Amino acid sequence: MKKPYRIAVLASGGGTNLQSIIDQQQTGELPITIALVISNNPGAGALERAQQAGISTLCINHRDYPTRENFDRALVNALQQAEVDLVVLAGFMRIITPIMLTAFPQRIINIHPALLPSFPGLNVQQQAIDYGARFSGCTVHFVDADVDTGPIIIQAVVPILAEDSAATLAERILEQEHRIYPQAIQWLAEGRVTLDGRKVIITDSRSCVNTLTNPTH
Ligand code: GAR
Repeated sequence: MKKPYRIAVLASGGGTNLQSIIDQQQTGELPITIALVISNNPGAGALERAQQAGISTLCINHRDYPTRENFDRALVNALQQAEVDLVVLAGFMRIITPIMLTAFPQRIINIHPALLPSFPGLNVQQQAIDYGARFSGCTVHFVDADVDTGPIIIQAVVPILAEDSAATLAERILEQEHRIYPQAIQWLAEGRVTLDGRKVIITDSRSCVNTLTNPTH
């Protein structure tokens, strides 16, 4: 039998993206095992969601570590012990160092609530509104050595409405996040994702294309 594809989800906050992954996994459509959920924040809703779903959790509080590298070493230890194939950052508000990147090369993905390369960083819904952009959206990408710069796996577009606040825009973007993150994880679990330079090639994804996702092959 094929070895199950094991993922860990790292989250700092409420964990709605984690929930969408749990929900998809429970329908049987996502061929993965969620081996571990880690948070740097003891109060994270994500930990509670994982516990309710019977998933192992770990809190590794960054405040207990003198440097980012020390913190990342603790993450790597836990992730290696859990034997994960993929590390999924889902609202994980810590910058990843080369310690993590070297331990999991091209095996760390992130979701960002804007259409990269526009609006990397924080408070990006407000930034998109203030800029006067007509569209924003979300991006799932591989994590590389810089912030929000890695190769793009999938994006979804969301219009910015005249009456939008950062909160209403964030909410509509989140709806799309909950759709595209499980999709990206499914492609990876099925071994359909390869890299050509910084271009991500998805094999045989015709059935997944719609007007909101990026056209793949
Ligand atoms: C999501 O919008 C995610 O894209 C964003 O944090 C939110 C987490 O929501 N991530 C970043 O901004 C990473 N820089 P959630 O906890 O409900 O999944």
